Amino acid sequence: MKAVLNGLATFALIMSIAGIAHADDDWKGGDAAKGEKVFKKCQACHTVEEGGPNRVGPNLHGILDRPTASKADYNYSSAMKAKGASGMKWTEENLFSYLEKPQAFVPGTNMTFPGLKKPEDRKDLIAYLETAAGHTK
Ligand code: HEC
Repeated sequence: MKAVLNGLATFALIMSIAGIAHADDDWKGGDAAKGEKVFKKCQACHTVEEGGPNRVGPNLHGILDRPTASKADYNYSSAMKAKGASGMKWTEENLFSYLEKPQAFVPGTNMTFPGLKKPEDRKDLIAYLETAAGHTK
């Protein structure tokens, strides 16, 4: 009996480690067409086309892998600038976490957007940004 319980505990541990490892690519496999609709929530404050204006938030063209707070013509919060100064980039993983709860990922950010709770919405949005923001991957 003890051996069975130990076996179960080991199995549970392996599953939870596998779960953590899996979280790294949770952003993959989104639907860009659906993501375009999700982006409507961002449009009040962001444009994404090349050379588009900054609104309340900075233009997001080329956002993937762009260093955080790197648009010279936009006045970022000191919280966002500090992230940029620490070498952070907008990888898919970072976007996936930031967009769930911006104020938790960058405490003190000016982005007063509560976040997208549904992982599917964030996945779709990232797929959209990969195309709309001028990336080819
Ligand atoms: C109410 C306005 C508002 C909405 C809605 C909004 N944002 Fe923002 N966003 C901002 C502001 C303001 C900043 C700059 C934050 C700072 O400097 O702390 C920002 C910053 C960002 C950044 C960092 C850009 C950089 O150059 O480092 C990303 C990425 C971003 N927003 C993505 C999004 C996405 C995607 C959505 C939609 C899900 C969204 N935002 C919705 C206002 C908004």
